[in-house]
Amino acid sequence: MNIKKQLNELISTALSNSGIEVELVRVNDASKVEFGDYQFNGIMPLAKPLRRNPREIAIQVVENMPQSEMIDKLEIAGPGFINIWLSPDWIAKQLQSVSSSDRLSVGKKEVATKVVVDYSSHNMAKQMHVGHLRSTIIGDTLSKLFIFLGDDVIRQNHIGDWGTQFGMLIAYLEELGVGVGDSLSDLEQFYKDAKVRFDSDENFANIAREYVVKLQSGNTHCLGLWQQFIDMSLGHCEEVYDTLGISLSRDDVRAESSYNSELSNIVTELKESDILVESDGAQCIFVEGNETPIIIQKSDGGFLYATTDLAAIRYRAKDLDAKRISYVVDARQSGHFKQIFDVARRAGFVDEDVSLEHVSFGMMLDKSGRPFKTRDGGTVKLIDLLEEAVSRAKSMMSQRDTSSTDIDTAAHIVGIGAVKYAELSVNRESNYIFDWDRMLSFEGNTALYLQYAYARIQSIFRKYGAQIDGSIILEDDLEKRLGLSLLRFDDVLVGAANESMPHYISSYLYNLTTLFMKFYEQNPILKDGVSEETRDSRLMLAKLVADTIKQGLDILGIKVLDRL
Ligand code: ARG
Repeated sequence: MNIKKQLNELISTALSNSGIEVELVRVNDASKVEFGDYQFNGIMPLAKPLRRNPREIAIQVVENMPQSEMIDKLEIAGPGFINIWLSPDWIAKQLQSVSSSDRLSVGKKEVATKVVVDYSSHNMAKQMHVGHLRSTIIGDTLSKLFIFLGDDVIRQNHIGDWGTQFGMLIAYLEELGVGVGDSLSDLEQFYKDAKVRFDSDENFANIAREYVVKLQSGNTHCLGLWQQFIDMSLGHCEEVYDTLGISLSRDDVRAESSYNSELSNIVTELKESDILVESDGAQCIFVEGNETPIIIQKSDGGFLYATTDLAAIRYRAKDLDAKRISYVVDARQSGHFKQIFDVARRAGFVDEDVSLEHVSFGMMLDKSGRPFKTRDGGTVKLIDLLEEAVSRAKSMMSQRDTSSTDIDTAAHIVGIGAVKYAELSVNRESNYIFDWDRMLSFEGNTALYLQYAYARIQSIFRKYGAQIDGSIILEDDLEKRLGLSLLRFDDVLVGAANESMPHYISSYLYNLTTLFMKFYEQNPILKDGVSEETRDSRLMLAKLVADTIKQGLDILGIKVLDRL
């Protein structure tokens, strides 16, 4: 149910009936209730080149609007805005068909776009920490959203498993010998200990350096140790994915090391297309607007992060045949991706018709606005943070009479949901403040607020105790607004997918739920004196609200509870 698309078509026809051909017509949500449901603000920019009065054009467009049962009223405002009110009967009719659709009438693309989503992608040398939370949660949501709308998604976990630090780590792994699994249970500590050994013992440092060379030349013994290390580290990630309910599996891992054999070809091809410049013995690329070049190959022959990314982008565009490639990576790497995208286009690794997107995000801060750290200034381990979320949710819920049979399952759903939602409810581009009290509140734009509304509706249904099935009639303005809000779901999902902005979905769900709460207060459902017809219609509306919350949260990777 794509309302905007239908309105755009109507206006486009009206314009064309008025002798004005426009390529792109775009209606907006009305900025205020007084301005109707939608607004068309596109007449002013059209009037200027035509040297016509915009208000006159607006009058003509309104007159030439094709008959449609969708529209209740059109009004011209200001210098030439068109305000649009939809017909309550039309809305009711659409809602009726939404209620019998298994995907709430959200359209599915007829032709899928192949989309690569690069997310999580953390470095194996260290434990996953809060910095990786954002990429993992945002990337997983975007993947789910794209799939729901009909795209063909290929997840890529571009883990950092190569580089000089692995020489040090496997040298230490070997030195410790048996029982190494235990030392690796805390990767952060393992890394620190290895570094201390490296810095204090020349002999150890030499072995570590040798191991880097041996690794790079494919020495089986070293590769075996390295593989053992990576497996353990990936195991840690998977524990986090599992707790978070993230859909990444081993099949989605396409590690940096997997591009090793391609790197020298990349250099050759770049040389052939005259993009490379030699500087101090290193192979470099200068990108417009940047003084410092990207180094593709060091003077000692070694390759870098950017080289691997060029091999990866080519693989994604040429071998995977992706038409949209999204990198969910923090904002500090925006310079890197600008350069990679630019070079990849120039070198012909990626064709014009492929969209390259850096889906960037800000930092995670504590309540005082500083980077999120443990009390003693260390990095917070993700798994500890998630456990704390669940235990906080559990203690909060045990104080309530939830009559939930399994408090642990419920606490997991609420705790993890709170962490994910807090992340997904802010514009990803801004820094985001991690605040336990706010995210575990029943009030405000939180997961709990939505989960609570959902459970509340389920309790109405339990009380009613029969099949919900009736005709929707929108009896007052509030019901009409609630109905229209339900119909907007499709447009919101499409907007969120186009711009890779998950918070469009959370803001929408929050507004829908607030509207429902108001409706429920003013328009009782099961109270004596409410006619059967009205009751049935209101039950239907409540059901649609619950289904939309559930579906919306599902895309955000969050579960609902029948009782809360
Ligand atoms: N491993 C990198 C890091 O932790 C992120 C990788 C992102 N993806 C990419 N294709 N560069 O900073």
